[in-house]
Amino acid sequence: MGSGVWKILQEHGNLITSRTRDTVRLEIRKIAVRDLQKARDAEAPADLFTTELLEVVNDPSVDIVVELIGGTDAAFDLVAAALRAGKPVVTGNKALLAERGPELFALSREHHAPIHFEAAVAGGIPIIKAVQESLIGNRIDSIAGIINGTSNYILQRMTEAGLGYPEALKEAKDLGYAEADEALDVNGWDAAHKAILLGSLAHGFLIDHKEVYVRGIEKVTPLDIKFASDLGYVVKLLSLVMAREDGAIEIRTQPSFLSQNHILASVHGVFNAVAVKGDHLGESLFYGPGAGQGPTASAVVSDLVEAARNSRPERGFLPFQEKGTLLEIDDTATSYYVRFSVTDQPGVMADVATILAKHKVGISGTHSPVDANNPDADFVEMVFLLHTCPFGTLKTALAEVEKLDCLTDRPVVFRIETL
Ligand SMILES: NC(=O)c1ccc[n+]([C@@H]2O[C@H](COP(=O)([O-])OP(=O)(O)OC[C@H]3O[C@@H](n4cnc5c(N)ncnc54)[C@H](OP(=O)(O)O)[C@@H]3O)[C@@H](O)[C@H]2O)c1
Repeated sequence: MGSGVWKILQEHGNLITSRTRDTVRLEIRKIAVRDLQKARDAEAPADLFTTELLEVVNDPSVDIVVELIGGTDAAFDLVAAALRAGKPVVTGNKALLAERGPELFALSREHHAPIHFEAAVAGGIPIIKAVQESLIGNRIDSIAGIINGTSNYILQRMTEAGLGYPEALKEAKDLGYAEADEALDVNGWDAAHKAILLGSLAHGFLIDHKEVYVRGIEKVTPLDIKFASDLGYVVKLLSLVMAREDGAIEIRTQPSFLSQNHILASVHGVFNAVAVKGDHLGESLFYGPGAGQGPTASAVVSDLVEAARNSRPERGFLPFQEKGTLLEIDDTATSYYVRFSVTDQPGVMADVATILAKHKVGISGTHSPVDANNPDADFVEMVFLLHTCPFGTLKTALAEVEKLDCLTDRPVVFRIETL
């Protein structure tokens, strides 16, 4: 990422100075890396490099510190040192801000040094500035995002090519779309970190990552993707931040069913999209490349220019209140797709339906595909589409269903989102 920033400044440094009427001239004075010998795709002079992170902060000729090293330990020390020195920070590190934001934003305030983080969410989409500035006159009712390109690519390949999860993951890795360690991408946390930042911006308090419900795509099967398609849905890793009438905020990231007609259903490959609903704005869609050297470096440079122009720590509206209320996951309600794996015996469907009815969970439809060439084959997969109910109610009902002898595996649940 650092190489991308170097390249943009070499190519467009003079343009930026002209565009800012000669008020901003950006020059890279120091570059910290781990390995001085490593070949890099940007040719910066050797004397700019150091392996000592703090040299960047302590150099008196450095006015702004850019953190693009990743992780939450050394990056925290670097950013904290810069803020303590009163130097504005530009970072693309969503994990750092989502997990250690409270400490860093407190330092930012104390030392009057702003933190800029456009590159941290959806690389090339200017969604941070949109929420912080362009939409400042709106109550933000909902944010729905596809904000992890790796997961989106994998789910798309499972849908289009019928690949299993391991094969689709391997393909994503071979194409360079997934990191060597893909964990944060596929376990949902990369997207959740970004949703935490968007939710914190939209609602003015720092959302505690420990209270956020997150599920990844690792357990999504080709069978559920096929059934989704039969029923008119696609499976997407959705990150949602929704404000309820009573002021509580619902925030979650999980693979969900989304109507094939919804605009987010057509976000393909490694692209990202964020749909924002504001009370006066209505709905607006932001779409673009979610990662990659060029798009992310473009966001970093925009923050650098902003930091150079204006060093106020009170950027946008994060955070303006100590605390807000997050909705308990058990109180969140949607309709559901539930797949039961069962033994083929008379009365199975009735047994499950009776338990659901006892818990007042309504059934809106069923799907139990029969092999046309072999209609007498054992019936093993039974799908119920369920009316909207709280997740807690569904969990209680399913705990009882799981005790039935006819079940051969745990039920598989997807939420059906009507955004
Ligand atoms: N890649 C993307 O598309 C993208 C998009 C948005 C945000 N981001 C964020 O940007 C950050 C960096 O990601 P990346 O993909 O650019 O990672 P990367 O390719 O691994 O680059 C990290 C750089 O930081 C240096 N570094 C790491 N730890 C260091 C330490 N302790 N001291 C000195 N230098 C250190 C590394 O030096 P060496 O080169 O010597 O190893 C390397 O140059 C992450 O927070 C990531 O979430 C990335």
